[in-house]
Amino acid sequence: MALHLDPAQEDRVDTLLSAMTWQEKLAQLQIAYRPRQEDARELVRGGIGAVFWPRSAEAANDLQRVAVEETPHSIPILVALDVVHGHRTVFPVPLAQAASFDPAVPESDARTSAAEAASAGVRWTFAPMVDVCRDPRWGRVVEGFGEDTHLTSVLGAAKVRGYQGASLSDGGSVLACAKHYVGYGAAEGGRDYNTVDLSEQRLRNVYLEPFRAAVLAGAATVMASFNTIAGRPVHANRRLLTDVLKDEWGHRGCVVGDADGVANLVAHGVAEDLSDALVQAFSAGLDVEMGGNVVDPAGHTTVTPDRLSVERVDDAVRRVLRLKTALGLFDDPYVDPAAEITTPTQQGRAATRAAAERSVVLLKNDGTLPLADGVRRVLLVGPYAESTDHLGAWVQATGAPAGTLADALRAERPDVALTVLPGASFFGDDAGLQAAAARAAGEHDLVLVAVGEPSSLTGEASSRSDLRLPGDQEALVRAVAATGIPFAVVLMNGRPLVTADWIDLAPAVLEAWHLGTEAAPAIARVLTGAVNPAGRLPMSFPRSVGQVPVYYDHENTGRPPTTGGSLQAEEIDIGLQGPGNVDDRYTSKYRDLELGPQFAFGHGLSYTTFGYGAPSVSSSGLAVDALEAGACFKVSVRVTNTGRLAGDEVVQLYVRDPVATLAQPVRRLRGFRRVSLVEGESTIVTFTVGRDDLGYWTGNGSEFVVEPGRFELHVGPSADRTESVDIHVE
Ligand code: GLC
Repeated sequence: MALHLDPAQEDRVDTLLSAMTWQEKLAQLQIAYRPRQEDARELVRGGIGAVFWPRSAEAANDLQRVAVEETPHSIPILVALDVVHGHRTVFPVPLAQAASFDPAVPESDARTSAAEAASAGVRWTFAPMVDVCRDPRWGRVVEGFGEDTHLTSVLGAAKVRGYQGASLSDGGSVLACAKHYVGYGAAEGGRDYNTVDLSEQRLRNVYLEPFRAAVLAGAATVMASFNTIAGRPVHANRRLLTDVLKDEWGHRGCVVGDADGVANLVAHGVAEDLSDALVQAFSAGLDVEMGGNVVDPAGHTTVTPDRLSVERVDDAVRRVLRLKTALGLFDDPYVDPAAEITTPTQQGRAATRAAAERSVVLLKNDGTLPLADGVRRVLLVGPYAESTDHLGAWVQATGAPAGTLADALRAERPDVALTVLPGASFFGDDAGLQAAAARAAGEHDLVLVAVGEPSSLTGEASSRSDLRLPGDQEALVRAVAATGIPFAVVLMNGRPLVTADWIDLAPAVLEAWHLGTEAAPAIARVLTGAVNPAGRLPMSFPRSVGQVPVYYDHENTGRPPTTGGSLQAEEIDIGLQGPGNVDDRYTSKYRDLELGPQFAFGHGLSYTTFGYGAPSVSSSGLAVDALEAGACFKVSVRVTNTGRLAGDEVVQLYVRDPVATLAQPVRRLRGFRRVSLVEGESTIVTFTVGRDDLGYWTGNGSEFVVEPGRFELHVGPSADRTESVDIHVE
């Protein structure tokens, strides 16, 4: 959706602009939050362009009325809120949604969320977060779609479409905001707000692509990120905010700063003071400052025309006024309080439950799951047995609460005698709890161990240096394992965890993330087999935090290993055997770790099984010119449900360019398709492979090349389980 107004609308914007004073223009270029309504009214009376949602439709109308009736130009305000994965109806956290490998899931979240938020007077959300991240120590991985550029691009664009709908002027649409532009997920050490230093080619090929996809999908706004890149904070980075985002990509909407991101330029050490920071940020291409630091309600500002060009300010104000026009706010800024959606509708509940069921990943299963009909006595232990903490990070107080897994299991299988014990706590260390759980296990047919990460340990400012289950939850898994009673582990968490200390003990493990309002019934339906899980990991699960970053689309290196590490001191005589001894000893690995992640990107099992035929291609060779002109390869594969249950399979297509001017990843996801097959059913899945899939950004500005040579197309159920076919670019 391009932000193109009709001529009459453009004229109104021009007329407004020409009538505004310098201070009135600057006032439009900021957003702030005041918890007290009277203070918020004062901001609006002072001409501020946007405010955070005042927590009800009436209060939003009240502020709009002040804007329309008590300001010189009656310019309505933008009312904004972080509606990240739900407003009233809470959907699975975005990382869980990514595990569905289904664009319809984030789109349904965004559509439902937009309708609910818009009914309350919110017309701008700060989502989707499309930060690629390969480091689960970073708490904000929960807000994004994982480690892969293509998956993040496809799901982020779907979410933009969901929020913005067919037209921004529809009452149920809100402005999307692709954030955090750019590279925030590459913070050193996975430590939030930390330094980022990227090569141009990696910035382009990995981190910028999802934002380009969001802008192409029509994202009305983009949010600048807190980090530096190559020493220059993005909030004051002209090359990224203007040259790339606005000039190269043609973004016609607004760039909004993150909270106090402009003020942080002083701490970054690139601005003398707040005034200097403001001038640098707006000069670089920021359009709206988040913090309300530009001009105060009395019109006082340190940002003067001799320090910031009138043209730049006019451009920023025009962008803001265009958004307000596109939303229809000048025609009608008010909402009907009687129509505010204050609780989830049945449709909303059904949508979030479907999203939750599609996002669960079966990591391991020896057949213990689903609960067999003969299972009559189940012991449910762990801090998540009776917790309602399923909503996840970035949920407002408006979010409808989740139920407990215990209650959901009772409802799903009333025939089962369910005993519930705490077994462990998130932050405690009470061996007595584990002993009590172990004693009880012997009187049951199956133990379900419900453990994980409380949502308070995920999200912003929640980096962790230890990725194991917190508290004494691992001890609980080991205590249950020692009883010999069949058991399954259910994980509720917001990031990939290190499971190495117990994973081999567990017969079955279900990754259930933080799944939102309908989490408990969704998990119960997967555990009992009413739903056959088909989710796939959107991020690799490391074997150790020391292995991070570990991700599938890595370079091969000059010394790719074929076997894992060994701590045995091998007798190698460098003098005799010399460094030329490049058998597997001198290769890129850890001496104390097996190769690769615990679970690979794209991994996920099913209660049924699937078989793949050999991939075939429509043609084995195409010329570069033909590709540049839009020609594509087609690669097809037959997939069969070889088991006894209906189920979904996520067929994945990876590309590899084994020889190129720049070393290419050993795999790059370029296509995925989730297909539903009943027992014995087959289908042919076909992907098209074109220029955008075979080429790469060279890092020389906006240069994108497709180089001649052999390419491998890999098709399969996960990054580490594929069969390939070659194609040639002449
Ligand atoms: C926060 C987050 C950003 C959010 C903004 C407004 O600091 O970084 O994602 O949209 O502030 O709440």
